[in-house]
Amino acid sequence: MVEHLLAIDDVKDDLEQILKWAIEFKRLWKQGDEVAMNFLPLDTMTIGSIYEKPSTRTRVSFEVGIDRLGGNALTLLKNDIQLGKSETIGDTSQVLSRFLGGMTYRCYGHEDVTELAKHATVPVLNALSYKHHPCQAAADLMTIMEHFDNRENLVVTWVGDGNNVLHDLMLACTMLGIDFRYAVPEGYEPDEDVVERSTAYAAEHKSELMRTVDPKKATDGAHVVYTDVFISMGEEHMEDKMKSFEGYQVNEEMVSNMDDGWRFMHCLPAHRGDEVTDWVMDHEQSIVFDQAENRMWAQMSLLCYFISPDAWSAMGEFMGLV
Ligand code: CP
Ligand code: NVA
Repeated sequence: MVEHLLAIDDVKDDLEQILKWAIEFKRLWKQGDEVAMNFLPLDTMTIGSIYEKPSTRTRVSFEVGIDRLGGNALTLLKNDIQLGKSETIGDTSQVLSRFLGGMTYRCYGHEDVTELAKHATVPVLNALSYKHHPCQAAADLMTIMEHFDNRENLVVTWVGDGNNVLHDLMLACTMLGIDFRYAVPEGYEPDEDVVERSTAYAAEHKSELMRTVDPKKATDGAHVVYTDVFISMGEEHMEDKMKSFEGYQVNEEMVSNMDDGWRFMHCLPAHRGDEVTDWVMDHEQSIVFDQAENRMWAQMSLLCYFISPDAWSAMGEFMGLV
């Protein structure tokens, strides 16, 4: 059976290894290691990426990452293909599977990426749906692992909307045993099934999961504060939503409540002046651009893990990860 990445807990048993692989591969590649630079497991393969929504980071990081792994990146913008007009997702998936070594899909409804995967005979990676953003979470946890040597007692906090980015961040943190708190206003809570899964992971990995409506309580003594736009793609008609987020802006006052070594995270794009101030975004303890870069390294590990698992294991062995 072909494996797919629809939500970050699809890799729950191997997430830590996938991230260690990404961190070590990045290090080797940056020092010009010949084995890493000549590691081309996607040689002769084309990986197709379908986009129904705009993207800067996801698109560029996939295209460059695929290229660095020896593959060809084929970007398919929804308006240019038959999908959703004269062809179903299932038929599109079966056709593309005949040509491609793997697919990524950025869509609106999570059921659409699930449908693409159901009919695919090659791996499908979710490049953001309304419910999940697993590639983002992989890059985020990789970034946290790079910035904090010790995950014990680490507290990661979310302040903002109960959205796709929160879902996979919460799942990933609890899966890796990191204490996680989220402050979300009433009416904008994360999906209950995701909270239930995260609660189970937190119990299994002995981490704490706290939910509150009070950003001050959530950030008290925390090490990381993460936020995202209050209005996600597809919610442009919901401008009234902004009123519910008064007091949820990450600013100088909010971070003064945190551990001195606080870090600020954001998946980007950021709406400066709404969910975060310039002072925080541009602060030396803001690690948002490390996160953006790590999209590529984390996705290179994921692409290889799903599409060329033997090569992924062999490289992991070379890097001393087994
Ligand atoms: N964070 C993220 O997914 O950014 P893009 O929308 O630019 O891809
Ligand atoms: N929550 C945002 C994330 C963008 C990367 C959205 O879905 O638009």
